[in-house]
Amino acid sequence: MPRPLSSWSGQRVVVTGAARGIGAAIAGRVAELGARVVISDRLEEQLRQTADRTGAQAVTADISTEDGIRAVVETAQTLLGDIDVWIGNAGVAAGAGLDASEADWDRSWQINVLAHVRAARLLVPRWLERGCGRFVVTASAAGLLTILDQPVYAVTKHGAEAFAEWLSSSYGHRGIDVHAICPQGVRTDMYPGPGRDPVADTIGHDGTLAPEDVAEALVKTLANGDFLVLPHPEVKDYFALRGADTDRWLHGMQRLQARIDEAGAAR
Ligand SMILES: NC(=O)c1ccc[n+]([C@@H]2O[C@H](COP(=O)([O-])OP(=O)(O)OC[C@H]3O[C@@H](n4cnc5c(N)ncnc54)[C@H](O)[C@@H]3O)[C@@H](O)[C@H]2O)c1
Repeated sequence: MPRPLSSWSGQRVVVTGAARGIGAAIAGRVAELGARVVISDRLEEQLRQTADRTGAQAVTADISTEDGIRAVVETAQTLLGDIDVWIGNAGVAAGAGLDASEADWDRSWQINVLAHVRAARLLVPRWLERGCGRFVVTASAAGLLTILDQPVYAVTKHGAEAFAEWLSSSYGHRGIDVHAICPQGVRTDMYPGPGRDPVADTIGHDGTLAPEDVAEALVKTLANGDFLVLPHPEVKDYFALRGADTDRWLHGMQRLQARIDEAGAAR
């Protein structure tokens, strides 16, 4: 179990994908609680505006490459002195169904999975030397369950969550604390909310959250020391059902897909 983080005051924090959405909300909340924050994104202008609003320092970078991640880590180390908490939040949702292209799979693999691996490769040796460090991955409920219509997202978010579990299993006993954030629908540019199409409706089935709700869930969960950050509490029950009775869970997903198909045919 990760050690609880009871105070953010003085913590040196990096948040990727923080020009807008969930990342911007997390950066704003932990800065309010006294953290020193570096935010990163490839959207330079929006990143600058978020930095102005939150008091964070901005590093523009594309984290889909090894060089991009290295630039964020090294610049943040210079700006902050060292990094205590890394929040790998940048993510993409690309491609639909079996028609998702090779390019969608490749880009999502780089951003949703390999960016976390590359960041850990750079951060963990230093954290092991000093005996502590905290690594947070924004995965998704789709990484614990699945998401209809979006196999690329489901698979790469499972990869992100699996990597976080592996990291925690391998280094938790040596002072590395790891968490995975796994929300359902959050109202951001990535997910504009229900009411548009049947798949979006299923994502918003348990109610959508504001990015600030996810930031609050993160702060509360880290204070408790849990690995999984579940802003939608229902996800815990779905995850338990998937493990306990996978066929029943799959049957439920198939019924949901059948309803979506019927709604599509009726349009
Ligand atoms: N919105 C949801 O319903 C939801 C649900 C579960 C998980 N998530 C996850 O939350 C995270 C944040 O998403 P969001 O909902 O705030 O969406 P968003 O699109 O508003 O934010 C994602 C941010 O990541 C940045 N980004 C993407 N690729 C990048 C790259 N190669 N280099 C640098 N920055 C890059 C984008 O520019 C953007 O600012 C993502 O990992 C997403 O998968 C979102």
